[in-house]
Amino acid sequence: MMKNLIDLERFPLDKPGSPEWNALVQSCRDDLDKHGMFNLDGLLRPALAAQAVSELQDEFANHSFLHERSHNIYFKNSIEGLAADHPAHKQVMTSNRTLCADQLPAQPLMDVYSWEPLHRFLAATMDVAVLYPMDDPLASVNVMSYSKGQALNWHFDRSEFTTTLLLQAPKTGGEFEYRTGLRSDSDPNYDGVGELLRGHDPRVEQISLSAGTLNVFKGKNTAHRVTPVQGDTNRVIAVFCYYENPGVAFTDEERIGFYGRTG
Ligand SMILES: [Fe+2]
Repeated sequence: MMKNLIDLERFPLDKPGSPEWNALVQSCRDDLDKHGMFNLDGLLRPALAAQAVSELQDEFANHSFLHERSHNIYFKNSIEGLAADHPAHKQVMTSNRTLCADQLPAQPLMDVYSWEPLHRFLAATMDVAVLYPMDDPLASVNVMSYSKGQALNWHFDRSEFTTTLLLQAPKTGGEFEYRTGLRSDSDPNYDGVGELLRGHDPRVEQISLSAGTLNVFKGKNTAHRVTPVQGDTNRVIAVFCYYENPGVAFTDEERIGFYGRTG
């Protein structure tokens, strides 16, 4: 029963078209407009989030992929029209441990990911006709764990929206930081990007999320990162991949880059 997994009283995702569903969609759209994100606090019942983290502990310890790479904010080696020594090219380090969808078979998380009313709700908030789950046995759902010193460093997303579900918040560090309006589709603002990477941008904002929160974030032109985790409580987060077209899958090359394996 989906109501045992997610809080349908506060978030009536199962009642599409009802006044309360419409009101929730509208408030999420308003938040996306104003803040570039919305949060459904405690959508996944926090006890289930905690259970998922404890059930995944062995898999993380023994079979996760250490995803560690140096990259720039664009995840690209060269940018047309940008000098190689420009500060916007600064290299930063990202490190986490990743589990793929094929390592999460018995997880309620997978049921939540596949639940059609969630797809319909998310599509409505993003103002797209329909969203499909990814057709990829590894990439559709990933769970990332960041332990002491690990971080997701500054980047822009390739997709318009990113959907995540926080399973465990760290006690200190591991803050989500973002800088809205740093660039636009027509203005790359390389000098502004350089200032941000030097740590000189006063318009960086920070939020702390609690376990069970669904976050939808517009990260294509908003630079963002997760600061290094401090202390012994890992930041554990699930990433849900949806697309406007059915049948989207990673190439073997992408799978090697993100997971170190193709199947
Ligand atoms: Fe991102």
